[in-house]
Amino acid sequence: MDELERIARLRQWVAEHNRAYYELDAPTIPDGEYDALTRELRELEAAHGLDADPGSPAATVGGDPSKLFEPVTHAVPMMSLDNAMNGDELRAWHGRVIRGLAATHPTLFDGNEATSDSTQAVDNVPSPAFICELKFDGLAISLRYEDGRLVQAATRGNGRVGEDVTANVMTISAIPRELNASVADGVPRVIEVRGEVYLPLAKFRELNEAQAAARVALLAAASDARQCLAAASEDMAPQQRRQLEAAAGMTQADAERRYPDYVNSRNTAAGSLRQKDPSIVATRGLSFWSYDIGEVVGGPQLLTAAEMFQFLDQLGLRVNPEIRTFGSLAEVEDFCARWQRDRHNPDYEIDGVVVKVADLALRPQLGATSRAPRWAIAYKFPPEERTTTLKNIMVSIGRTGRATPFAVLEPVFVGGSTVSLATLHNEDQVAAKDVRPGDTVIVRKAGDVIPEVVGPVLAERPRGLAEWKFPTICPECSESLTRAEGDANTYCTNRSCRARVTQGIGHFVGRGALDIEGLGERTVILLYDTGLAGDAADLFALTPADLAGLEGFGEKSATSLVVEIDEARNSPLPRLLIGLGVEHLGPTASELLARRFRSLDAVIDANAEDLAEINGIGPAIAASVVDFFADEANRELVRKLRSVGVRFDVVDDIADIADTPQVLAGRSLVVSGNLDGWFMARDDAKRAIVERGGKATSSINKSTYALVAGDRAGQAKLDRAAELGIPVLDEDGLRALLSQGSVDSESGS
Ligand code: IVH
Repeated sequence: MDELERIARLRQWVAEHNRAYYELDAPTIPDGEYDALTRELRELEAAHGLDADPGSPAATVGGDPSKLFEPVTHAVPMMSLDNAMNGDELRAWHGRVIRGLAATHPTLFDGNEATSDSTQAVDNVPSPAFICELKFDGLAISLRYEDGRLVQAATRGNGRVGEDVTANVMTISAIPRELNASVADGVPRVIEVRGEVYLPLAKFRELNEAQAAARVALLAAASDARQCLAAASEDMAPQQRRQLEAAAGMTQADAERRYPDYVNSRNTAAGSLRQKDPSIVATRGLSFWSYDIGEVVGGPQLLTAAEMFQFLDQLGLRVNPEIRTFGSLAEVEDFCARWQRDRHNPDYEIDGVVVKVADLALRPQLGATSRAPRWAIAYKFPPEERTTTLKNIMVSIGRTGRATPFAVLEPVFVGGSTVSLATLHNEDQVAAKDVRPGDTVIVRKAGDVIPEVVGPVLAERPRGLAEWKFPTICPECSESLTRAEGDANTYCTNRSCRARVTQGIGHFVGRGALDIEGLGERTVILLYDTGLAGDAADLFALTPADLAGLEGFGEKSATSLVVEIDEARNSPLPRLLIGLGVEHLGPTASELLARRFRSLDAVIDANAEDLAEINGIGPAIAASVVDFFADEANRELVRKLRSVGVRFDVVDDIADIADTPQVLAGRSLVVSGNLDGWFMARDDAKRAIVERGGKATSSINKSTYALVAGDRAGQAKLDRAAELGIPVLDEDGLRALLSQGSVDSESGS
């Protein structure tokens, strides 16, 4: 793969992980791996002169704002921080700061050797002062106070546009609704306070205890219901019987699905803030630390970061007590080392130390890159490690037949949760790590979700412990496993292998694909084992009567599952494509195929050249699609799906973007008020603007192109539009705008 291809691939990964982390609050790889990917991407982009490309996911901060909350354009962008992963990187940053200041401000360093030469040693150069803060692992928020009153709270979003979470933030008691008016220097007219919303660890534990208690209660109720049913007389009221049956059918898996454990405090804080119902947010016990100021109008002149914190404190905002200012790098390093050691002492999660130039006047001289200031750095703690016993190494079979070894561990608490399983990826990885059942192993979790076995503690290896050998037969179907020359993976090639088939069905009905609720892994296996579903198409023939007799099903749950399955016949084409499980075909590529071909039949008929012609579909995906549909078993499944009434041509509006002329490219629009009775709803209007290349923002400024005003549009917006001479559009105006991209003089007022 050449470097440009690598860049393309990295961009795709980083964009996907950005989305998983920032938008869905559900990261799928450890922070450390994510950091490594973004770094590699930035370095490669820089080497190819692509680092200024604003479309790169490495250049953006956070995720795109979600659709649930109104967008808010930040008056001053909310930046991210660059990371230092170790002491050397921290010292390198310090060197850059000193050289940066010496270059722009030689008088500060009078009589010193400092120059802008990046190779120059900086050991003997006086250092500016630094303020060191803990790096709180929560969610960045901007609080806008006008005349001392909290008027808006917004998440960071992509740094430029965030989400309006005012109603939710208003329920957080740690955030004042009104600033302390008696502050000596006077409350600024406008002040945007930036900081981190977090969930105290005690609250996090309480929430998980409540979930566990709810699971126990649900199962206890199920057991009571079963006893009641057993003792019930024939003439029990049907409605009561149905209720009891539903309760009696609850299994451990149902309880875990309904009341899952929260994974870590950061995701819980982020998820809480995105609750639609503010009264739920209020019960979560979120808290806040302030760390920066965005837009400010009026108020005192602040010279140092310490003064800024003092001022925030006087205003009534929460300032973390551990903040310190130091005059030398050595002290900064000591502070970092101390908190690395004591990271678990506070009642909140921290994942590093943020070091910032303390003198506020020096910061603008160092400036910022597109995503982060040069005057600050996040020193990240290395991932935490613990040792435990490797009880066994087992192999699981996926839907493609891939045999993945995984470690069965003596449960160990690491990085905020208990780990008992960890993937070992493939045969070579096990060999390279040389981990053997019975070993004491080092387990790591980079402060988040995916656990990893680092390696054995050889000093503790029992004498004569046998090397682990990859099994030669499939643990599921006992057919032989094969590994092709040059391939890192081992496969079970038996297409009828129970694990492969059930995993395939599970994938078809899973979240990223047809997303059929109530069809979990256990149910799929049950359906397969009882002969009710030998493949995905069989699901569509199930009747309530088929299901009602099965373990865990009552009449009601059986009917509702059949209804869910029935609705899934109309799933959008991209989801159907994903469900089929074509290798390499992810959500983005499926969406592209759907937009271009608009039906499964057309995709099947396309040849590799047709497919590869699509921007975003590479030769590997094209070949894989062709191979997939050339395979007789896959064609048979497609035939069966057709015969049970699955639709192959559901392509929703969003899939039309590729064909939509970008008539609003570069234009920024505001939609306000209620569009009831118009030809499209307000959210659709915003979507239509975005699909045409425009931006749908929430506040009016000089660069706003037009205001689309429905019933009860905000008066302030109408006034501002009038003041700036911005056209106000009615229904016809919107129609014209969407079709021709400009304001029709007849309908704009
Ligand atoms: S300052 C322009 N200070 O870390 C500077 N950020 O990785 C903006 N964070 O988006 C950030 N603790 O959510 C700053 N003491 C602290 C912080 C902090 C946590 C978060 C914040 C930021 C992210 C960047």
